[in-house]
Amino acid sequence: MERITDTYILNNGYHIPCLGFGTWQSPNGETATAAVRTAVRAGYRHIDTAAAYKNESSIGEALKPVDIPRAELFITSKVWDDSRGYEKTMKSFQKTLDDLQTDYLDLYLIHWPATKYRCPDWEAVNVDTWRAMTELYKKGYIKSIGVSNFLPEHLEALMQTEIIPMVDQIEYHPGQMQEETVDYCRKHDILVEAWSPLGTGRMLTDRRLQDIASKYGKSVAQLCIRWCLQNGVLPLPKSVTPSRIVENADIFDFHLSDEDMVTINSMPYFGGSGLHPNTR
Ligand code: A2P
Repeated sequence: MERITDTYILNNGYHIPCLGFGTWQSPNGETATAAVRTAVRAGYRHIDTAAAYKNESSIGEALKPVDIPRAELFITSKVWDDSRGYEKTMKSFQKTLDDLQTDYLDLYLIHWPATKYRCPDWEAVNVDTWRAMTELYKKGYIKSIGVSNFLPEHLEALMQTEIIPMVDQIEYHPGQMQEETVDYCRKHDILVEAWSPLGTGRMLTDRRLQDIASKYGKSVAQLCIRWCLQNGVLPLPKSVTPSRIVENADIFDFHLSDEDMVTINSMPYFGGSGLHPNTR
């Protein structure tokens, strides 16, 4: 990947810009609006949100007046746990469209799987949510569909349906590479996206990563983002700080050596969000 507008190609042929702008924990209101405006000015064309982030209306405000044709923006949202199932997903999707002030989404994801630990008919619930997503996809209201935080055991039931997911968005950063899920996605041509590629900020004070980053004259944040790309994963760093938003997009002028990739890929777990689909 050479520039921010370069794309990965999903298993349905749709293009997705290789660096997305994360908005989890961006407070609704002027903060989220200003952050997204800054991101668009800095060149980001891919914005990732979710109903559960409760900032879709602020993001809609930010995207409304930009001088960028809708077709050049890539907007992702996600259906929350309280809207699982066909009917509720349909309703939630419409609210998301209204809040974002758009008439289609580029990507819509099931935010978290229903799991056997919480829900006796978890597989049927996931498939029922997926049925709504599939219908919206076939009608053209969503250009691509996928999941988030799905492990292989959660993906299995969807793989038996008419349309398989195009994306699985998971927590992914040094020390938390979720190899089993990533391998499964690779095998089935499902693109892996990284939420919290900076480990919600926890990567930034790690001495080992600081040492590697300094060799390239880059920050640890930039190192983590570049590292995702070189592993074929799509990073979604979040920031509400203008200088960091710009910094996180400045990752196309260096290349991590194979040796440094191996070093980072070998790091054991040393922190992250602590969220897991089967225990949260
Ligand atoms: P803030 O939003 O206040 O700028 P992740 O994407 O892994 O969830 O990490 C997000 C966290 O990392 C936020 O707390 C964000 O702070 C912080 N962050 C994002 N980019 C940078 C950066 N370039 N330097 C330092 N901290 C950053």
